[in-house]
Amino acid sequence: MIYPLGMIRRLLLAGTCAIATIGMSGPQRAAPSAPTFSKDVAPILYKRCVSCHSESRVAPFTLVGYENARKHAATIASVTSTNFMPPWKANPHYGEFKDIPVLTPQEKSIIAKWAATGAPEGDPKSAPEPPKITPGWRLGQPDMVIAPEKPTKISAEGVDFYRDYLIDPHITKPTWVRAVDFRPSQKGTVHHVIPSLVKKEEAEKCRKIKFDHEDNSWDQRSIEPIETYNTLGFWSTGAPPFESPQGTAFLINPGDCILMDMHYKTTGKPEVEQTQVGLYFSSEPPKDEMNVHVVASDSIYLEPGQRDVRVFALGNKTKHPTTIYAVWPHMHYLGRTFKAWVKYPAGYSKPLVCINDWDPDWQLLYYLKKPLEIPAGSRIYVTGTYDNSAGNPRNPYSPPRVVDAGPSSKDEMLFFELFQVVHKPKDKDKPK
Ligand code: HEC
Repeated sequence: MIYPLGMIRRLLLAGTCAIATIGMSGPQRAAPSAPTFSKDVAPILYKRCVSCHSESRVAPFTLVGYENARKHAATIASVTSTNFMPPWKANPHYGEFKDIPVLTPQEKSIIAKWAATGAPEGDPKSAPEPPKITPGWRLGQPDMVIAPEKPTKISAEGVDFYRDYLIDPHITKPTWVRAVDFRPSQKGTVHHVIPSLVKKEEAEKCRKIKFDHEDNSWDQRSIEPIETYNTLGFWSTGAPPFESPQGTAFLINPGDCILMDMHYKTTGKPEVEQTQVGLYFSSEPPKDEMNVHVVASDSIYLEPGQRDVRVFALGNKTKHPTTIYAVWPHMHYLGRTFKAWVKYPAGYSKPLVCINDWDPDWQLLYYLKKPLEIPAGSRIYVTGTYDNSAGNPRNPYSPPRVVDAGPSSKDEMLFFELFQVVHKPKDKDKPK
């Protein structure tokens, strides 16, 4: 059977939650310096939580204002003590990242004390102004909005599923895309979105494949032969808009189409979903083209009952110097750990990203603190471990079955995307 995701989280966090309450000060002891919402807690929530926990944003409830925070005080203390919130899965000591949202031990202890002492408000006059969270597109009106031509029906219950839609942006001249934002139409229905670019000829091939569904979409297996050549950013629950770093942008050529790969999940009630993708164009050609490069393995074969199975993927040697800006680790329900690093031609390695406790719910894109320059001849290494035992509460099969590589969420993947710029020699520098 499939466990609801909330229940899995509680199962996995049960132990740590219990430990986290030990050592919280009792009301009497903490009273003289008890933290209050206005002075101590609101600054943390407004900095780290309300970008998602606001009316118009992705999280299920708002944490703006004292009343909203008070209602959730106990769960806030619990989810912050276990690092479940704010969502961030990468080990902060392996690789270097931009804007790590993890709370400091001091911030966590303030929240824990506040919740344990009755969640007092304090002086409302000293509370900071909540940040302005405007509904709608987060970067203003896009230059172009694309969406599947028909909405998709999601039934109340059942397994999550994928659909692919071909969208023609009707581009008539080479167009540079500097940012991409995503707007699912219903909260909680979209797990992730990958908008890939396909060349004109591949789009033609794709159009000849019979649709699998009445919303004019395909299952992933039907369009496996279609080659994509780049990805226009990426969205998963809680992701900010994708903004290509200064001096870089994606390129769409006339005739090229977007193959929008959507992963939907059920919410307990029937839903109708039609995600919009907003494209922001760059008025000038940028210095460099942003490219998404994939390192993945198809050699996955997990016997029922096997735990801690290691799968390995090795990238080809880079042909040109390359700058890496962001990385996206991806596995499905049996994944437990993920690690990627780069090995330089001189023999030494540098860490990229490591996740010690993989959670398929949080497929985050990790931006590197500083762009990483790697020389030609470097290689990307990726390993993942998988648990196909009955003891894994996320196992989609009960009893466990053989699971091998494949795109559907009941198959497995070891998949790693690098958002990068490849510095090919310009025509004039090329050897004659
Ligand atoms: C990147 C977006 C994002 C940020 C930032 C974020 N949350 Fe959440 N939070 C979510 C989403 C989405 C859910 C619903 C998860 C689900 O049910 O699968 C959630 C759920 C929760 C829950 C309910 C957990 C449960 O099991 O019922 C609490 C409590 C919570 N968040 C508190 C916080 C606090 C406190 C912060 C800041 C310290 C924070 N969140 C930051 C997106 C976010």
